[in-house]
Amino acid sequence: MLKQVLLEATESAAALMKEYSTRSFTISNKEGINNLVTEVDHKCEEVIFGIIKKNFPTHQILSEESGEIIQDSNYKWIIDPIDGTVNFANRIPICCVSIAIEVDGKIEMGAVYNPFIGELFFAQRGYGATLNDKPIHVSKTEHLISSCLVTGFPYTYLDMPNGPLEVFSKFIRRGVPVRRLGSAAIDLCWVAAGRFDGFFEHKLNAWDSAAGFLIIEEAGGKVTDMNGKHYNPYQPGIIASNGIIHDDLLRVVQGGEVELI
Ligand code: IPD
Ligand code: CA
Ligand code: CA
Repeated sequence: MLKQVLLEATESAAALMKEYSTRSFTISNKEGINNLVTEVDHKCEEVIFGIIKKNFPTHQILSEESGEIIQDSNYKWIIDPIDGTVNFANRIPICCVSIAIEVDGKIEMGAVYNPFIGELFFAQRGYGATLNDKPIHVSKTEHLISSCLVTGFPYTYLDMPNGPLEVFSKFIRRGVPVRRLGSAAIDLCWVAAGRFDGFFEHKLNAWDSAAGFLIIEEAGGKVTDMNGKHYNPYQPGIIASNGIIHDDLLRVVQGGEVELI
C-alpha cells in the first residue's frame, strides 16, 4: 500500500512536469539570485499532497515549497516536487520528482522519477534498488584517479575552507572528470546505477537527498556526511560512492590531495 501510494504520487507529479514542458509557466525567484521556483513546482506539490492525504491523512509531510506538516505519526514523507528546477525552467530534461518515506526516523522507501528520459528509480530498505523495475548496482571502480564523479553547487556560494570550488578544482587539476547535472537526486541515482563512481555536495536539504540515499545504499553503495559519519538527511554535506573509493573521496573533500593511484 505504501509503495503503491508512493509510486502513484511520484508518477502523477512527473506526468505534470512532462505536460508543462511544452507549455508556458510562471517562474519566480526565492531568496538568492537564481534560486527559482516555477508554477509547476507548486502544482506538483499539490498533486502529491492530495494523494498522500487521501490515503494517509495522519502522516507527516516535509516538502520543499510548503514546509512541514507536523502530526502525531511515525511516518514522514520527504518531498522535492521538482529537483533540478533551474534545468526544468530552462527546458533541460535533467530534473525529477523525488519522494522518500521516513519511518521512526529511518528512510524506508524512496522513488525518483525523471519523466523526460523515462527513468524511475525505486528502493525499499532490504529489497535492493531498481531502475524501471530492473535491479541496479553501484560501479566496481577501485581508484579515485580513474573515477567519474558528479557534484552540485548551492544557489549561494559557500566561501569556506575546502568549499565546493576548491574540491572541484582539485579533481579537475588532476584530470578526474567531475560532472554537474543540476539535480542532486539524479546525481545520487546515477551513482546507484553505476554511471558515476562518486558524488559530493556541501549543502543539501533532506528533500534533495533522502530518496537518492536509500537508492544508493540498496544498490550496494555508501553515503555519509562530510565527516564520514552515517548519512543524516538533516545534515547539509553529503558524500556518496560505490563504497570502494569512499575513504579516498572523503579524504579529498576534507582537504587531502588526489593520489595518482
Ligand atoms: C537543487 C539541485 C541541485 C543542487 C542544489 C539543489 P532544486 O535543488 O538538486 O543539483 O546543486 O543544491 O538545491 O532547487 O532544483 O530543487
Ligand atoms: Ca532539490
Ligand atoms: Ca525543488
